[in-house]
Amino acid sequence: MATRTRSRSSNSSSKSSSSRSRGNSSNRDNQSAFSWGETAGPLIGAAVAGAALGFAANFGRKFLTQAVSGVAGDWDEVLSTEHDMVEALFDKALATDSSQTWKRAMLLMQITHALDKHAHEEETIVYPALREANEAVTADELNSEHGYMKTHLYELGQMEANDPEWLETMRELRDLVVQHARMEENEVFPKFKQAMTEEQNEKITTLVNKDGFWMA
Ligand SMILES: [Fe+2]
Ligand SMILES: [Fe+2]
Repeated sequence: MATRTRSRSSNSSSKSSSSRSRGNSSNRDNQSAFSWGETAGPLIGAAVAGAALGFAANFGRKFLTQAVSGVAGDWDEVLSTEHDMVEALFDKALATDSSQTWKRAMLLMQITHALDKHAHEEETIVYPALREANEAVTADELNSEHGYMKTHLYELGQMEANDPEWLETMRELRDLVVQHARMEENEVFPKFKQAMTEEQNEKITTLVNKDGFWMA
């Protein structure tokens, strides 16, 4: 009995000691794994400041990017300005030759981003609003045309920039975009704008700008 007691006591003591020891070791481990120590303050401060600067820079970039099309005015003018901007990028891309692979890659990246942002604004705001206004057939046709533009972007993304088909595929994409843009600018948007009240138009403008900001 006494032995058991001693034994328990001994075990307990040993356990306790071991536990303390583990505790200390664990504390040391904790210190090395999770404690940044006294010198970490400036490092954390710099990291936080860096993240804040990065966030501010990104916010500023988004603001400037959307401001370019946003200053255009109403939602239809914002979207028309974006059509013009992407058409200017197509002109630059179509003026390249197969030796300008880096320039082609950069322009394809810019065109892809411009079309992604623009398509998101239309597919998330304008086309759903069109469907609500009983223009689902038109909205679905326009949406489907965006799909074929994305197919061309996919094909271009799979090609080497000096591929003999690059220029022709880019030209086909440009023609699709221009034809689609003219349909929106000359027929769909003016008719839809006219059918809406001033308040409804303002709401669409706000939503398009907000979406464009986050997509920028
Ligand atoms: Fe569109
Ligand atoms: Fe458009």
